[in-house]
Amino acid sequence: MSATEFVPEGGGIAELREAAQSCHGCELWEPATQTVFGAGSPKASMLLVGEQPGDVEDQRGLPFVGPAGKVLQRALDEAGADRSTLYVTNAVKHFRFEWRGKRRIHQTPDTSNVTACRPWLEAEIARVDPQLVVVLGATAGKSLLGSGFRVTKERGVVFERDSPAGRRRFIATIHPSAILRMDAELRDQGYADFVADLRTAVAAL
Ligand code: URA
Ligand code: SF4
Repeated sequence: MSATEFVPEGGGIAELREAAQSCHGCELWEPATQTVFGAGSPKASMLLVGEQPGDVEDQRGLPFVGPAGKVLQRALDEAGADRSTLYVTNAVKHFRFEWRGKRRIHQTPDTSNVTACRPWLEAEIARVDPQLVVVLGATAGKSLLGSGFRVTKERGVVFERDSPAGRRRFIATIHPSAILRMDAELRDQGYADFVADLRTAVAAL
């Protein structure tokens, strides 16, 4: 299972996005509504990588427009990130879920999904060629930095490393949905730490 045969060799982000609409590189395309490709400036200096689209993103066809996206946008604003310098995407481009009654419940993508979808992420990073890649959470870390990468241990510092997307500068932080899952008394600190990491990212551009 792989997206490789669906990824066009030439063209820019718009051509990639168009081609990704008909990707059948793994089984996730079938139950999902649509491919949710990355969005933002095709010349962004900062490219942020999440996990996969959620329920809202699946319906709207855009990344980070649901509850986790609201947290991310607010934190990026607070960190002083200029929106015109950003490109936001996910490690996996289709929503993986299971039905529970009438509700679609998020399921973490399998390693096989992360691997199958990585050619899209590699192509996005190659086309945008950002100065810094921001890894949001474990799934993005697994895709770009290997299964041994631990976000909680290695967050908040800029480092340069070889990756499937070439030698790149990275910074890792937690996923914004992890903040939403924190106990109420921990959430303010969790959010503040997240903003601090994003501030470090902005300062490194
Ligand atoms: N969570 C993600 O990782 N990506 C999205 O686009 C939305 C929620
Ligand atoms: Fe293709 Fe990725 Fe969707 Fe799988 S999740 S079908 S590899 S776009």
